[in-house]
Amino acid sequence: MFFAFTGLSFKVSVLSMSITGFLYAHYWRVASAWMKKQVLKTPAPERLTQADWPRSLKDPTGFYLECFRFFHQRLPAEIREHRTYFSQNRRGFGEDAMHVMWYSLFETLKPANFLEIGVYRGQTTSLVALLARLKGVPCTVFGISPFSTAGDAVSKYDKGINYYEDTLTNFRHFSLRAPILLKAYSTDVPAKELIKSQSWDLIYIDGNHDYEIALQDWQNCSESVKAGGVIVLDDSGLTTAYRPPLFATGGHPGPSRLAQEIDTKRFREILQVGHNRVFQKIA
Ligand SMILES: C[S@@+](CC[C@H](N)C(=O)[O-])C[C@H]1O[C@@H](n2cnc3c(N)ncnc32)[C@H](O)[C@@H]1O
Repeated sequence: MFFAFTGLSFKVSVLSMSITGFLYAHYWRVASAWMKKQVLKTPAPERLTQADWPRSLKDPTGFYLECFRFFHQRLPAEIREHRTYFSQNRRGFGEDAMHVMWYSLFETLKPANFLEIGVYRGQTTSLVALLARLKGVPCTVFGISPFSTAGDAVSKYDKGINYYEDTLTNFRHFSLRAPILLKAYSTDVPAKELIKSQSWDLIYIDGNHDYEIALQDWQNCSESVKAGGVIVLDDSGLTTAYRPPLFATGGHPGPSRLAQEIDTKRFREILQVGHNRVFQKIA
């Protein structure tokens, strides 16, 4: 009797938790959709150029909303379609505004090479390859990732996906040339050798979000990015004035702490789009 009662109360509490979760998710979906509609009532700026970037550091929340509007009102259809594809079937994380960040960075830097740490299913690597094609700027795309379910203190990834093959399939979907992918943790010797192997125009750190690993990624990449080159540090907005709207996230503690510790004599922060912060090497 006792066990039957305990089992029943367990089931009741699981059921009430899942009802609460369901209601919260429903509320969140409705409220986010409403908020996006309100934000889109204001027109986006005609253009977003490097001259606008300093505004992102003074008013990161306002600038984020501008990028969100720019995505929906101004960005070329091919880039919006790329985001739509990766928003389906859990193919990618990120937010619409981040596509505007990459668009603006690519237009300004015209990178000849790009390295991503933490590839997942290839949303950003394929976006950079697509931008290169659209802009007619040759750019070699590299990625370092375990291509497994390897996560960290704040992230878990789905089982049952061949992440390596899936990334290549996603490139083929857009008829893009395959990227150069290294199946490794960013702290493995072959990964450190790849990072050191060239002087990088553009690097994106978005692998393991634990402070100690993100710090090692920063240390390795900051040596190998060229002077004038740029590192984008994902999920590092918690220690800024950025206040994410309901449909966005502020970042994680590890990368946010790391961003606060970056040597400002060697790197200058030039842009922030939501939880992504962008640092340019001075020398
Ligand atoms: C948030 S996802 C990256 C999303 C991707 N940057 C994009 O834009 O679509 C983080 C990825 O990093 C991978 N990862 C975890 N630990 C890593 C490590 N030590 N080195 C490189 N990648 C790692 C995860 O398996 C996952 O695929």
